[in-house]
Amino acid sequence: MSLPTSMQGVFLPGNSTADVRQYPVGTPGAGELLIKMGASGICGSDIGYIYRGYKTHKGLNGEPAYKGVIAGHEPSGRVVSAGPGVTRFGVGDDVIVYHIHGCGVCRNCRAGYFISCSDQAHRKAYGWQRDGGHSDYVIVSESTCIPLYSPLTYADGALIACGFGTAYEGLRRANVHGGEDLLVVGLGPVGLAAAMIGRMLGARRVIGVERSAERIDFVKALALVDDIVLADENAVERILELTEGKGCEVSVDASGSAPGRATAVAATAEWGRMSLLGEGGNFETEVSDALLHKQLTINASWVTSLQGMEDLAKMLATQGLHPEIVVSHRLTLSEADEAYRLAAEGATGKVILVPSSAPDAA
Ligand SMILES: NC(=O)c1ccc[n+]([C@@H]2O[C@H](COP(=O)([O-])OP(=O)(O)OC[C@H]3O[C@@H](n4cnc5c(N)ncnc54)[C@H](O)[C@@H]3O)[C@@H](O)[C@H]2O)c1
Ligand SMILES: [Zn+2]
Ligand SMILES: [Zn+2]
Repeated sequence: MSLPTSMQGVFLPGNSTADVRQYPVGTPGAGELLIKMGASGICGSDIGYIYRGYKTHKGLNGEPAYKGVIAGHEPSGRVVSAGPGVTRFGVGDDVIVYHIHGCGVCRNCRAGYFISCSDQAHRKAYGWQRDGGHSDYVIVSESTCIPLYSPLTYADGALIACGFGTAYEGLRRANVHGGEDLLVVGLGPVGLAAAMIGRMLGARRVIGVERSAERIDFVKALALVDDIVLADENAVERILELTEGKGCEVSVDASGSAPGRATAVAATAEWGRMSLLGEGGNFETEVSDALLHKQLTINASWVTSLQGMEDLAKMLATQGLHPEIVVSHRLTLSEADEAYRLAAEGATGKVILVPSSAPDAA
């Protein structure tokens, strides 16, 4: 199959615009694959740390963490060409790409947590330090790929690559299981992921808390949560009423806000487990009655491992679950500026880019 020599890619200048440019289609080197993009998600971190102004978001060396590459760290697509030494994947395979390529040999990389690779010189995130998924084609390292199991779609894969993987890891660490109630605070894409996966892992009932009325309307139609509680001063009382006064055995904060975390602490049951997933801000709590005397366990979790992502993808495929139901907007690469504007304004659900060149199936 002959490939085009040039393609569209999205560059983020850091001034709240997205710029569609022409780039050459690369050739995969040793251990690399050329992927024809099926779908690529826009993430809150792209908005907060790159789109609005990346120059203030510094990496460990004090330089801006975004290196002006093609954006997008949530890619999923089809292998169209393989470099020398590739062993697991080949032309025609559909894959999900883990969003960071680590050194592969440090302790965290060996455990599959490329996100926490300790070798800064060799740690490169797609869409940050190396070209990412907002393009017709992207070159990826084979070591960052996992299979896109049938019947998952490319949009499902893009969601698993970041938000769903994150939610899975938080729930796995909190060990949610059958007969338990799950509380999800913040019903953006990550919170909705926690709701879908929590139920898949056996949660008896899923209670969601959200403060945006538009989001509540969108979420109701998805039927991922059993009860939705408005995030006002009565939220904790309402959750206690819904759980016969005990609270939820497992809670997840996906709001990234101090009030949301306070709601989660107060509405977690005795001996409960809580996972902090939302980024930013502070976590403030009284300790004795709120935590110690309730015997709480609190996890803090940053994305997931390669293995976690692969296990999750397999489970979702087996159950016939489709993360893409949380997508509210699909736009082409040419419409990237509009897509970023929608995401930055707080679209009701997830915004993804689907190139007009995307493969038909998956
Ligand atoms: N831990 C990780 O590895 C990881 C990975 C990806 C994203 N994140 C973070 O997870 C969070 C969620 O991501 P997202 O894409 O769903 O973001 P989002 O901004 O779309 O969703 C957050 C939701 O929380 C709601 N909210 C805010 N304050 C609230 C409150 N007090 N009570 C209830 N709801 C409240 C908002 O209305 C919004 O719907 C973000 O902070 C993001 O940065 C973390
Ligand atoms: Zn992301
Ligand atoms: Zn490493």
